[in-house]
Amino acid sequence: MSLIARGITVDLGRSRILHDIDFAAHSGAVTCIVGPNGSGKTTLLRALTGEIGYSGTVTLEGTDIAAAPPWRLAERRGVLPQATALAFPFNVIEVVRLGLTDHRDAPRAAQALARVGLQGYGTRYYQELSGGEKQRVQLARVLAQIGTPVGPEGPRWLFLDEPVSALDIGHQLQVIRIARDFARAGGGVVAVMHDLNLTAMVADSVCVLSHGRKLAHGGPAEVLTDATLSAVYRCTLRVGAAPPPGMPYILPHMAAEAADRA
Ligand SMILES: Nc1ncnc2c1ncn2[C@@H]1O[C@H](COP(=O)(O)OP(=O)(O)OP(=O)(O)O)[C@@H](O)[C@H]1O
Ligand SMILES: [Mg+2]
Repeated sequence: MSLIARGITVDLGRSRILHDIDFAAHSGAVTCIVGPNGSGKTTLLRALTGEIGYSGTVTLEGTDIAAAPPWRLAERRGVLPQATALAFPFNVIEVVRLGLTDHRDAPRAAQALARVGLQGYGTRYYQELSGGEKQRVQLARVLAQIGTPVGPEGPRWLFLDEPVSALDIGHQLQVIRIARDFARAGGGVVAVMHDLNLTAMVADSVCVLSHGRKLAHGGPAEVLTDATLSAVYRCTLRVGAAPPPGMPYILPHMAAEAADRA
């Protein structure tokens, strides 16, 4: 029950962006992709979802995605892009319904909106929302599209590119919980993340990219180390070090999610 990519190489323009990447993720787990700006995270996600051309192979639950028709992929996996531009004046519920293949499923759109804490926002104009509200509407669209974590055909997958980048800490935790619940119920989650603390909290495994290459992939404790992170981000990072006395130190408390992963 998994996503397996082998030898993924991507060229965009005249540049090689990804170099021969092997990647695996399992349903029932949250897999995070981290790395600096420009390291190739979005490009890898777009290759894994079949949105851009690549050499190598990607199989999702045993199906080569290059050979699967788009409608069949849309039943199995939902994709939250890093940025979404909408040219038309849709209202919020219309944006969420864009994810539905069957428009008789309207209650599913309302449920998805409630799931991201935006019940009552359905008739607002999407363009008038704040950045974080827009990001949560887009997540609702993906949740409405994908439905339950496991369908008759097997596990379904969420591919999320920086799903919490515009969110306040409370809504970050809400989205992290949605991802964990989806995995706990048997679905697969692959999420690009910048926040390493949230990554440490939510991820079952972490893939680190640097300059279009995979530098490490393993459990958070194995991968999120002083040496690896300091080298990749080119700054001094101390994993687990206490802050200097008197410095406020804000950590989200997610005991349930941490215990679930253990
Ligand atoms: N269409 C394109 N043509 C040429 N180069 C591109 C194209 N799209 C992306 N790139 C380059 O590929 C590299 C990887 O981009 P990518 O968007 O995958 O990075 P990222 O790790 O997601 O970064 P960020 O954290 O800023 O979102 C960057 O150097 C970018 O400039
Ligand atoms: Mg990106």
